[in-house]
Amino acid sequence: MTDTLADRTTGDLPGTAVAADRFRKTLAVHASGVVVITAQSGGTPAGLTATSFSSVSLEPPLVSFYVDRASTTWPQLSAADHFAVNILASDQADLAARFARKGVDRFAPPTRWRPGPLGAPLLDDVSAHLVCLPYETAVVGDHLLVVGLVTDAGVHHPGRPLLYHQGRFGRFLAHPDGRS
Ligand SMILES: Cc1cc2nc3c(=O)[nH]c(=O)nc-3n(C[C@H](O)[C@H](O)[C@H](O)COP(=O)(O)O)c2cc1C
Repeated sequence: MTDTLADRTTGDLPGTAVAADRFRKTLAVHASGVVVITAQSGGTPAGLTATSFSSVSLEPPLVSFYVDRASTTWPQLSAADHFAVNILASDQADLAARFARKGVDRFAPPTRWRPGPLGAPLLDDVSAHLVCLPYETAVVGDHLLVVGLVTDAGVHHPGRPLLYHQGRFGRFLAHPDGRS
């Protein structure tokens, strides 16, 4: 018997998963905002670009992201006692690309940042930032789900989000009447 959404908890159903190529192509159609997750780990800043960021709960205030279990940045992030979410603005595509690149010092100039209230790096000129304490982490497939309790948040430039769609960065354009 097939599990329902309500009673399914974990596990896989061999032979029922969609082909990887079709999966990737379909997900590429889903436009998303872009964030950089940052933390201060043993005195060294660490961070990576993510589109898997999401709000989770209002009470308590929770957000989440997924990180690849093969990520070499995750061990640094996971050693920190808190992290920051930097929500990128439309003119920060280069910054997003930089925080996805291996073999570079992502925090060296031209990256501009400062330590946040608890120490995690806050990137300059972002749309907004959140500071989070670890709340829950779970292995889900080949990724880790990381849930954070938001302890601080600030909006700086609300109107110009950076978006990611079909492998490219872009901007949001509102419909003239705000609806369709
Ligand atoms: C637009 C974009 C979105 C990404 N989103 C995620 C994500 O949600 N989770 C993740 O683990 N990696 C994501 N990545 C990959 C990481 O930013 C980065 O490339 C990877 O962490 C680099 O490997 P490292 O962790 O070994 O340094 C994304 C990359 C790009 C360009």
